[in-house]
Amino acid sequence: MKKLWGGRFEGKSEAWIDAFGASITFDQQLAQQDITGSLAHVKMLAKTEILTQDEAEQITNGLKTLQVKLTAGELEFSIENEDIHLNIETHLHDEIGPVAGKLHTGRSRNDQVATDMHLYLKETVQEVIEKIQLFRQVLVQKAEENIETIMPGYTHLQHAQPISFGHHMMAYYGMLTRDQERFSESLKRIDISPLGCAALAGTTFPIDRAYSAELLGFSSIYDNSLDGVSDRDFILEFLSNSSIMMMHLSRFCEEIILWCSHEFQFIELTDTFSTGSSIMPQKKNPDMAELIRGKSGRVYGNLFSLLTVLKGLPLAYNKDLQEDKEGMFDTAQTILTSLEIMAGMVETMSLNKETMEKSTEKDFSNATELADYLANKGLPFRQAHEIVGKLVLDCTKKGIYLQDIPLEEYQAVTPLIEADIYQTLASKTAIERRHSYGGTGFDQVRAAVERGKEALKKEDKKNTTK
Ligand code: ARG
Repeated sequence: MKKLWGGRFEGKSEAWIDAFGASITFDQQLAQQDITGSLAHVKMLAKTEILTQDEAEQITNGLKTLQVKLTAGELEFSIENEDIHLNIETHLHDEIGPVAGKLHTGRSRNDQVATDMHLYLKETVQEVIEKIQLFRQVLVQKAEENIETIMPGYTHLQHAQPISFGHHMMAYYGMLTRDQERFSESLKRIDISPLGCAALAGTTFPIDRAYSAELLGFSSIYDNSLDGVSDRDFILEFLSNSSIMMMHLSRFCEEIILWCSHEFQFIELTDTFSTGSSIMPQKKNPDMAELIRGKSGRVYGNLFSLLTVLKGLPLAYNKDLQEDKEGMFDTAQTILTSLEIMAGMVETMSLNKETMEKSTEKDFSNATELADYLANKGLPFRQAHEIVGKLVLDCTKKGIYLQDIPLEEYQAVTPLIEADIYQTLASKTAIERRHSYGGTGFDQVRAAVERGKEALKKEDKKNTTK
């Protein structure tokens, strides 16, 4: 079969070499974008009178027919035609004959593929943003339902101080909000048109790049044709933002997995988000959470593989750049599904509130309360810390907790400790009194939840007025 670029070739191509060079097995995901890009390009060629109205009309109609066939699943792609661009052009030729050959005037596959990817990521990132918003909504809702649910807060995975479960949820809300911001901000660098940069140097045809960009809904155009065809920063940024987000999801999943364990028993996942074991009948495994934790690895991998592909590439286009696609598609698919699963899993998980709260009563997570109590009565904090440390050591030897020490013993250590100490040592009091901004105090968590709801409402309005 004769290649579209076959003029300069005498030898025959070999199928296994063709297969190695081809990208059609994966870049067919860009078919829609490729046709959209061509429709804008041909409209521009007509406006600038590079093509006649009649030629442009024939090409446009041909492309629209392909669009219909594509949607109906009737467009077949072949390895011989290498990639999505040559496949579509060949199909166009079959539809309308030799005039199809005029479509490629004033452009190259190099600006064409870049245009397709910019269009693809623009749509995908919008979708990612919407999915993050839905997950943030779930987090705020879970937080609101659990402002007064008490759990141990950890440092070093050791009980540190009791906190509100709602506070814990709002911490993830904060992370996901930043993730969303990063994706939103990246849109500015995705929303640029490379179309018309041609192979690398621009073109002698009097094209109108601003016009085709406008038709495609791009906000700006690349200033430099070499940069336009070889820039893949916008994909790197997507992979990098996805990696950071997956790291957040992975941390959350790790906690979910711990909380489901026999040792913790803080939460239970619904059957939908769990699986059983083929041998151990009692098992209910948090597979989905484990998979998301695991999939963070492949997303990081995609980022590193593209960084490595780009490192040391001379300007402008090199076939290495074809390696930019699979990792991007894979990442998009992975993060969209992961977000959806996270939202469902968190929304439907049930909490063992009693177990969580009880676990803050059989520990020393109220030691700071006692130290603060003494500091409040004028004792230098360091001295208070020392006294409480000794009391904790003493308790561990006796197998009791601070709330079990009788008042006489406390007063023998220091008369500063009075009967109100037991109230102070209660987990609920410990949380309640943390009024500092952004802390776990119930009033603070309530305010954070309100801020979250307000922010989501505003974003929703922005979306509907768009
Ligand atoms: N399939 C190619 C890619 O994905 C399209 C661009 C080909 N350009 C070229 N000069 N061979 O990168």
